[in-house]
Formats: sequence, C-alpha cells, structure tokens
Amino acid sequence: MQNTPSSDGISANASPSTHETWTPSSWKSREARQQPLFENDAELARVVEQLAVMPPLVTPWEVNRLRGHLAEASQGKRFLLQGGDCAERFDECRSDIIANRLKVLLQMSLVLIYGLRLPVIRVGRFAGQYAKPRSADFEGEGEERLPSYRGDMINAPEFSRAARQPSPTRMLTAYERSALTLNYVRALGEGGFADLHHPEQWDLDFVTSEQLRDEYQSIVNAILDALRFTEAVSPTPISNTDRVSFFSSHEALILPYEEAFTRMSRDGAYNLSTHFPWIGKRTGMLESAHIEYVRGLRNPIGLKVGTDSDARDLRAILDRVDPAREPGRVTLITRMGAHAIEDTLPRLIESISSSGHPVLWTCDPMHGNTEVTDDGLKTRRFENIQSELEQAFDIHHACGSILGGVHLELTGENVTECTGGARGLEAKDLHTAYQSEVDPRLNAEQALEMAFSIVQKCRTMRSTIA
Ligand code: PEP
Ligand code: CO
Repeated sequence: MQNTPSSDGISANASPSTHETWTPSSWKSREARQQPLFENDAELARVVEQLAVMPPLVTPWEVNRLRGHLAEASQGKRFLLQGGDCAERFDECRSDIIANRLKVLLQMSLVLIYGLRLPVIRVGRFAGQYAKPRSADFEGEGEERLPSYRGDMINAPEFSRAARQPSPTRMLTAYERSALTLNYVRALGEGGFADLHHPEQWDLDFVTSEQLRDEYQSIVNAILDALRFTEAVSPTPISNTDRVSFFSSHEALILPYEEAFTRMSRDGAYNLSTHFPWIGKRTGMLESAHIEYVRGLRNPIGLKVGTDSDARDLRAILDRVDPAREPGRVTLITRMGAHAIEDTLPRLIESISSSGHPVLWTCDPMHGNTEVTDDGLKTRRFENIQSELEQAFDIHHACGSILGGVHLELTGENVTECTGGARGLEAKDLHTAYQSEVDPRLNAEQALEMAFSIVQKCRTMRSTIA
C-alpha cells in the first residue's frame, strides 16, 4: 500500500524536496511505515472513497480554537491534560465506559484548575484512537505466523488467521464508532453532567483512599463556595459553568484514513477526523510519509519525542512542519522514561529553544516506563510515571522553559494494569482486572491521584521559588 503512486505521478520512494507542493496525498511519495498489508487494494480504494464524502467529526473553527488554546499553554497561560486509552476498542464504545472516562478527565481537570490556578485544556485520546503501531509485523512461527494486531481499525486481537487479516471495512466501523463517541461526549459536555453546580454527580465510585476522597471533596466544596459567592454578588449567572469542552485526539497512523478526512477550507487543509492528530515515535522521521502528511495541515499537531530523538533532526522536522513558527502549531510530547529523562531532555530543550520554534512542551510519562512482569504482563509503576513527570517539571524550570501539559494513558474503569498508587497494587494483583490489549493504563483512582501529584509538585516548586 505504501508504494501506490500518488495522483500527481510521483513514484514510490522518491525523495522530493520540501519545496514540492503538498497535497492530501503527497505522503504517498514517501516511505509510510506501520501500514497494514491489505489483500485487496480495490476494496481499500472503495472504503477511502466512501469515507472521503462522509460528514467530518470536527469543524475547522473548533480546530482553530484548540490551536489558540495550545499557543497559550506554550506561554504558561493554560495547562494541557491529554488522556485516554492506549487503544480504543469497538466493543468498548459503550455509554458507561465513555461517561466514566469523561468523568475522570473532568475530575482531574478540576483538581488541576484549582491547584494550578490555570484553565485546563481537556483533550481525550478518544473518538478515533483505533490504530496502533507495532514493533513487529508478524507474531508466531511457521504455520502459526500471523499479522500483528494493529488496533480495531485494522484487525482483531484474537490469535486466528481470520481475526488478524487486515480489513479495510474496519475503517468504516472506526469512523462510525468515533462519531458515536464524539456525539455522546459533546452531549455530556453540554448539559447537566458537567455542571459545576452539581459535582455530586461526579461520584468517586472507584476511589477507596479516604485521603484522596477528602482532598477531592474539599476542592469541590471550595469551588461550590466560590460559585455561590460570585452568583450572589453578581446579578447574572457566570456563563459556561454548566458546560465543558473536550477536544479529541488520536495517533494519525493509517494514512489512507487520515487522507480521506482531509478537507479543504478557506484557509487551508484540515484533518477533520480529530482536532489534534499526533505522530508517534515509530513514524515521526524527517523523511517519513507521516511528517509529509501533517506538514500541510492547519491542525495543531503533536510529535512524540523519545531518548533516541536527535536534536538536529527534530529541528529539521520543526522547520518542515512549522516554517511560520506559529505558536500552538506543534506540541512536543516527550516520553523518555524516569531513568533517562535527565540525560536526554535538557539538551533537546536547549536546542529547540535556540531554534526559535515556539513549541508547547508536554510530558508523556507512560511510554518510556513500560516493563514486563515475570508473568508476562505489560505494566508501569505509578512511582516511575510520577518520577518522570516531576523530573520534567524540574528540568523545564532549570532550562527556563515551560512544561505546559501532560499526556497519560488512563481509563475511567477500575482496572489493574499499572502497579502502585494509593491502593498499593502489586504485580501479583494485576491479573484481577487486566483488560488492555496493548499498553497498561492508570485506573480512575490512580489517574486522579496523578492529578493531585502534579498540583503538589507545582506548589512545591512555587514555594521554593518564592
Ligand atoms: C502511544 O501513545 O500509544 C504510542 C504508541 O506512543 P509512542 O509513539 O510514543 O510509542
Ligand atoms: Co500506548
């Protein structure tokens, strides 16, 4: 699939210069990694044709609003909370799961707003997070050798030939489930669910820690007091306390899908399958098809940055995707690991700062801290996640830059996938409710605890500086 010639006739694997005209399909002239091998190209073309005329999921003005918010976050005026599943599943497009995920994001954002005294930008890894990069194309040996699971947009995780066969029609289902999810997210954000006057609706079902409950309750009480006071002294109710906005994001991985949702607007091309597409570590190389694809979008874009990211390459990528040096256009999502961040992040910050690119720096403390238990389960330790985040705050402060957000894998469900946290989950407990087919997520209680930990860290930093 990656070798299909593009409509402007550039053949596969040529290396066009960046001066070449960008089109929604110009990525086809570059090497596209992590793409599934579909058996039937005609079927893929039919699906893409159908998707290309479907209503978009988001609008250009929402995308522009998010870009403006991210620009402010890069200046320390807002804080970005980006979170959700590593991979959404088709059969988890359920009202309870969506509402619980929203609830935990809402609760975390409340803690952050109150603790940091900053508006929080809520971005979900949802309504499109259906495709995954994998380290190997195949799993198993000989007769048992099957394509790897690449997310529900491509195939199914069961280890059978039928389940693992990539099918283009799954992209139609991914679009439909994304639309259903976003529709519900928008409805919940509009009305009673997110009304700050009724935080009792955001109960803490899964939180067992008394301390966490008490701390949360005292924030809720303080907010209610403030609202009542303001509404008592002001004759008109404060607007927007009864609704909240959520933006959507996903890894822009499967390029025919992303291309189908690339629509031309008066001021340029927008990917309208999501507000905030990001490029993962395995596809974000300078000459990659993925960088070529996002180069021409008006959307804000995220770029994952790991320990092996070279500062010079990263500068070249920024020159390519953000030649105008527009605040809010690029968010760098560093994911280095608690043990490596100290050696890697400072020189990257120095290099990017001196390049003059006004990026928003955020930290993904999940993906550099993955390990495998003796039982073969992928897990992450709460204390390593917390440590990477705290170090990121310190390093940015020492370098005179700003950590403007956090990127977490989490769920509103009571899963046991990461160890540690208030409930003291240990490796032996992980089997109790381990559900992820890919990466381990913070459960609702651990996620809320992480929000308190961020606030605690920022308060300590402020009091040290003061
Ligand atoms: C992810 O965010 O799920 C992911 C695969 O991240 P990365 O590209 O940083 O490994
Ligand atoms: Co992941």
